[in-house]
Parts: sequence; C-alpha cells; structure tokens
Amino acid sequence: MKKILITGGAGFIGSHVVRLMVNKYPQTQVYNLDSLTYAGNLANLTDIELKPNYFFLKMDILDQEKINSLFEEHHFDAVLHLAAESHVDRSITNPLEFIHTNILGTVNLLNAARNFWNKPYEGKRFYHISTDEVYGSLGSEGLFTETTAYDPRSPYSASKASSDHFVRAYHHTYGLPVVISNCSNNYGPNQFPEKLIPLFINNIIQMKPLPVYGKGENVRDWLYVEDHAHAIDLILQKGKNGETYNIGGHNEWKNIDLIHILCKIMDKKLGREPGHSETLITYVKDRAGHDLRYAIDAGKLQRELGWEPSLQFEEGLEKTVDWYLNNKAWLEQVTSGEYQNFYHQQYEKR
Ligand code: NAD
Ligand code: TYD
Repeated sequence: MKKILITGGAGFIGSHVVRLMVNKYPQTQVYNLDSLTYAGNLANLTDIELKPNYFFLKMDILDQEKINSLFEEHHFDAVLHLAAESHVDRSITNPLEFIHTNILGTVNLLNAARNFWNKPYEGKRFYHISTDEVYGSLGSEGLFTETTAYDPRSPYSASKASSDHFVRAYHHTYGLPVVISNCSNNYGPNQFPEKLIPLFINNIIQMKPLPVYGKGENVRDWLYVEDHAHAIDLILQKGKNGETYNIGGHNEWKNIDLIHILCKIMDKKLGREPGHSETLITYVKDRAGHDLRYAIDAGKLQRELGWEPSLQFEEGLEKTVDWYLNNKAWLEQVTSGEYQNFYHQQYEKR
C-alpha cells in the first residue's frame, strides 16, 4: 500500500498503530489525521515524527469540507478509522458529543471515501476500528462472537454500534470495501489516565483514593495495545472485505482482582511497603448502567489469519507500569488543565 490515512492517530491505540505502520512500511506514506482533543497528544509520537513517511494533519473528522478536499487531493489506498470519543463515563455525562464524533464523523469519512475513491474501489479499503461493547453485557457464561446480536447499553457503545451499522450499510448499499474489528479493553503505554489502569497507576503514584465502582465485580477482557495494533495490521493486509473480526486477549479479570495485582506491582516498583497501595482502594457509587462482563471469542481471527496475543497479562501490566513511572512528565502534562475539571466532576463530587 502506498498511502494510508489513520484517524485518531494521536490517541492511545492510534499512536501505536501509526508507529507500527511508519516503522514497518517505510515505503508507505502514513497520514495521521487528528483534531487533538483532550485525548490526543502528539507527544505520543515524538520517536517517529521526523520519519520521511509520516505526516500529521490537524483536522476534525466533523469538518465535511476539509475532509472532502483531503480525499480529493490524496488518493488514499486505505483508511484506518480510530478517531472517536472513547470513554464511557464521559458519554454518560455528554452523549451528544459521542453522537457527533462517533456517528456523524464516521459518516463524513464514509461519504468522502464513497465520493472521491474511483469506483469500483479496486485496491481500496475502509477499516473501521470498533469495540466489543457494541455486543452489550454478558452474564457469567459465554463469549461475544462476530454473530452476537448488537445490544449496546451505554451512550458510548450505542454510538459505536451505530457507526458500525453505517459502515456495513455503505458496504451493502454502495459496495464500499470495508472491514470492521471489534476489540476488547486495551491497556499499555500512552493511555489517557481516565481509563481504569492508567487512572489507578496515577492515583497510586500520588497516593490518592482508588475509586472502585460498585463492588469491583465487573469483568473485562484485557489486551496489550501493541497486540491490538498487530491485529489491525494483519486485518488491514489480509482481512476480507465486508467481514468483521473480533479481537481479544483470552484474558478476563474481575476489576477488583486486577486492582490487587496492580497494587502489588506498584508497591514493588515504588519501593513501598507490601499492602500500602491496597489501603487506597475506595468503593464508590456504581457507574450508571454498568455492563457486567465483556469477553471475546477471537477464534475467527486466529483460525483465518493466524493472530494470537503475544503477552501474558502480568508481563504486560509490568511493562505498562514501567512506562508510566519512566514517563512522569507525560503523565503530568496530560493531567494538567482540562483533566482537573473532569476529575472533580467525576470523582470528588460523588
Ligand atoms: P482515545 O480517546 O485515546 O483517542 C481518540 C483520538 O481521536 C484522540 O487522539 C482524539 O484527539 C481523536 N479525535 C477525537 N475526536 C476527533 C475528531 N472529531 N476529529 C479528529 N480526531 C478526533 O481512544 P482510544 O482508546 O485510542 O480508541 C481508539 C479507537 O479504538 C476508538 O474508535 C475506540 O472506540 C476503539 N476501541 C478502544 C478500545 C480501548 O480499550 N481503548 C477498545 C476497543 C476499541
Ligand atoms: P474503563 O477503563 O472505563 O473501560 P470500559 O468501561 O470501557 O470497560 O473501565 C474498566 C472497568 O473499570 C469498568 O468495569 C469500570 C471500572 N472502573 C472503576 O471501577 N473505577 C474507575 O474509576 C474507572 C475509570 C473504571
């Protein structure tokens, strides 16, 4: 592939995808389009920003005119669409923002691809990156497969589900060559400290309370972010048009069990007394409509494309903790400004 557009490339997962593409495919021009919301940070990409095949475009996917001009000017071979509002708690406070970015933003990109790519779209690919949360919430048994019926239950997952439907509709109606993947919870370096793992790492460093929602019994299936980026690369290269692939870590953890492990790792790394961080655990009011359990069956991706996660969870968690401890300036930068307001609204008023 000669020229690819990655949206949301300054965010958590997007920055890992951009890095992988820029380094692995030096002959491919990688365009990173990002409006740099609170979650987007070019400091995530300092190691590759001077590479000759990397280009940054500060642009909003909601800006229809600019998006159309961009597609008119550049004949992208593929779009990897990751730009989104991604945090469930923020979607509960402000659903409209999620409808704008996640639904309308996606449709803008689909329209641009549909209108400016030459038909019959030979060699083109529109790759939409989605989440397992579109499938709803599991009980104690079962796994999400690609055929599980959609049942989104938060404004975030409803907006992602809607965007997935539009992507499929553009495939069926206009023949746009699309592919979708739905991934479980990611963790790793560069994740904004509003999500569970980096928030708790940051709070432990600062000896602040660790706000566990409800009883801490909700279950998530965790995948190291670089494993997700490798799966995205594989699906981009080898996935079939019109298909959906589930990506997951075969790695389910009850929140409270994960938090205990994280506390142990943090005590060890910070040279604190064993048990110190656990004293910070504070049970708080549950999230509204809190999905009980997510778990992915990634069998199709393994069988058809040979993908498997590479890291064991404890190894991945240690790597993640090391990254945050070695990048305190990054953490301080992203937690100044707007983050303080968010934190106050979300936790201190609870
Ligand atoms: P993130 O919030 O860290 O990053 C989102 C990026 O999108 C940011 O750089 C932000 O500036 C950019 N962005 C937001 N609105 C924009 C707009 N209107 N125009 C241009 N850029 C805009 O998100 P993430 O966790 O990296 O998630 C990336 C994608 O992967 C999302 O689509 C998300 O739904 C999906 N996903 C995330 C997870 C997860 O665990 N984080 C799991 C599965 C799927
Ligand atoms: P999160 O990282 O927000 O991801 P998602 O809700 O998309 O799965 O949350 C992961 C789990 O951790 C989820 O069950 C909610 C819980 N959680 C807390 O208990 N406390 C917190 O402060 C946060 C942010 C999440």
